[in-house]
Amino acid sequence: SKNVLIAPSILSADFAKLGVEAESVRGADWLHVDVMDNHFVPNLTLGLPVVKSLLAATDIPLDCHLMIDDPDRWAPAYAEAGAYNVTFHAEAASNAVATAKNLRAAGAKAGLALKPGTSLADWAEILPHFDTLLVMTVEPGFGGQSFISEMVPKIALARHLVDTGHLTIVVQVDGGIAAHTIEAAAEAGADCFVAGSAVFGAQNPALAVAQLRQIAQA
Ligand code: DX5
Ligand code: ZN
Repeated sequence: SKNVLIAPSILSADFAKLGVEAESVRGADWLHVDVMDNHFVPNLTLGLPVVKSLLAATDIPLDCHLMIDDPDRWAPAYAEAGAYNVTFHAEAASNAVATAKNLRAAGAKAGLALKPGTSLADWAEILPHFDTLLVMTVEPGFGGQSFISEMVPKIALARHLVDTGHLTIVVQVDGGIAAHTIEAAAEAGADCFVAGSAVFGAQNPALAVAQLRQIAQA
C-alpha cells in the first residue's frame, strides 16, 4: 500500500483547548495549522505565539499553512520556531525561491501553495526548491467548504511534474477532503491529505484519521 500522510487541520478544532485537540488525533502524520492574516484571506486565525505553544504541546510535526501577505518577511520565523513544514502562497510571495531557501536554511521543509485559480504550469520551474506542493481544493479562508472536483486534473499534473522531474516533493491537497472525496485526490496522485471538518467534526477524530488513511492507501 502507498505511503500517505494525513494532516488534520486544527482550523476545525476548539481553539480554547488546542493541546487537548492535538492529543485527540494521535497517529496523524502532520498537524496542519492555518495561519490567516485577514488580508490575504478574509479571515483571521492565529500566528507565531500560538504556533510556539503548539510546538511545546505536541510531538506531531507541525505543518504551517501561511495564508498571509508578505510571506517573504514572515515565513522564516515559523521555521526558526521549529515548524516541520512551512507552506506559503505563490500568489503572495515576492521572491518564492529566496523564501524557500530561507525556510530550508532554518531547518524546515518548504512548501508552495496554489489557490484554485492559480496555474501550476506557471510555477513548475521553481518546484525543485520545494519539499511540498499544496494544491488547494477550495478557496483558502474557511473550513467546511466543498471539494472543487475541477482540481483533480491539477493534482494529476502535480504528480506528473514531480515524477517526471524526479523531484522529492509531497503533493498535498487541502479543502473539502473527506471519506467521499479523498479517493479521487489519491487516485490523481496526492500523497498528503489535509482534513479539518472531516476529522475534528467526527465523534472520534483519531478513528477518522485512520479511516481517511485507509481509503487513501487503497
Ligand atoms: C482553508 C484551510 C484548510 C481548512 C480545511 O483555507 O486551508 O486547511 O482547514 O478545512 P476542511 O477540511 O473542513 O475543508
Ligand atoms: Zn490549510
